[in-house]
Amino acid sequence: SPFTPFQRDLPIPPVLAPVSTRNGVDVYSVDIKDGIAEILPGFETPIYGYEGVYPGPTIRAVKGRPSVVRQTNKLGFDSNVHLHGGYVPAKHDGHPMDVILPGKSFDYTYPNEQDAAMLWYHDHAHGRTAHTLYYGLAGMYLLSDERDVELGLPQDEYDVPLMLADHAFNKDGSFRYAENVDLGFRGDTILVNGAVSPRMTVQRRIYRLRFLNASNARSYNLKLGNGRTMLQVASDGGLLEKPVSRSTVLIHPAERVELLVDFRGFRPGSEIVLQNIDGESPGTKSVMRFDVESGGGAEEFVIPTGRMRTLEKLPAPNASRRWDLGLFTQSGVQWRIAERGFNPDRIDVRPRLGSSELWQWHNPSNRVHPMHLHGMLFRIVERSTGVVHPADRGWKDTIGVLPGETATVQPWFIPHTGRYVFHCHALEHGDKAMMLQLEVEK
Ligand code: C2O
Ligand code: CU
Repeated sequence: SPFTPFQRDLPIPPVLAPVSTRNGVDVYSVDIKDGIAEILPGFETPIYGYEGVYPGPTIRAVKGRPSVVRQTNKLGFDSNVHLHGGYVPAKHDGHPMDVILPGKSFDYTYPNEQDAAMLWYHDHAHGRTAHTLYYGLAGMYLLSDERDVELGLPQDEYDVPLMLADHAFNKDGSFRYAENVDLGFRGDTILVNGAVSPRMTVQRRIYRLRFLNASNARSYNLKLGNGRTMLQVASDGGLLEKPVSRSTVLIHPAERVELLVDFRGFRPGSEIVLQNIDGESPGTKSVMRFDVESGGGAEEFVIPTGRMRTLEKLPAPNASRRWDLGLFTQSGVQWRIAERGFNPDRIDVRPRLGSSELWQWHNPSNRVHPMHLHGMLFRIVERSTGVVHPADRGWKDTIGVLPGETATVQPWFIPHTGRYVFHCHALEHGDKAMMLQLEVEK
């Protein structure tokens, strides 16, 4: 059956070539349009895609070199593009009320001034992101800097972006998106870079596997089938201070986790399944498989053991806020943050540029709420469910607030002024108003 795992080789999304590289600026051009993907062998799946493909093409940017991405909307409805995790001026952030009308273009300018990180770009049309992301409007944006090279981290084909998303299908091969999924959509099949639980042939070398959870609402708990540990080197906002050894890795919607896996010690011919140990069915338990080739080859990459980076110290917080996350059911399902739903005409917080605050997320519900802040980064200070895991101590832009948990984070309101949003990245929750606005003021 087309749903049998490990039948297809892992696809790697194409890397977008700039249309020009004048004056130290890389200019790209992307058409947002309908497309057809062959996700199930022999079937055609209609999608929306950046350049008509799913996942969208990967943009590889370099710190210190701005990029301009001209997005042209060739769909029959409004679109806009958010650079998730990017330090981006408000006008270019892809705020849900900013639209690119059908037939029009917008030049998104990305300064690329932050440290290397795995960012991603996706549609953010107001109230419709659950739909547009599910049908394909997501791509990866890998920002690199000289630290990656200095540390000797794997590069080129050994540096592998992996977009996870759960889906369901109709008999004709089209995506099936269930109705009434106000609590968050769950598919029965895991796609990695748009292929059903694929296999990846690996050499006996070190690989950098960069996971993005681009699912509407599913979290994954990743574990290698042979029980080997993986080394986490980065999270949402780039490198951790030190690598962290992990036997399981929980990744919530919109989060990124970068793992080094050392295949040198594996027997040639071994097949190692990457499992989702929280999966509830055969189709949601197997993420992908690594098939180890014989031979080793020159080893130019290294496994970092010491300090990789020093994280900047945040200023002392000058306010403390509590955000209760809740469900509101009086007029159909609506989600709330501190009893408020999204109102584009209201600013909910007005922090000063350069300041920081303590934000306490309180989740009395039985769902994970992956809370995301646009245009800025934060650090996790405290979790009521236990100590902050070393892998959670880096820069973050999304935190999966667990059922029953109170999690305290410290956002730092830099580097731009202007209007941004923060919201739940369980896309059906965000669309159902679980989103507020902040305006960073001079
Ligand atoms: Cu990926 Cu508003 O978020
Ligand atoms: Cu939520």
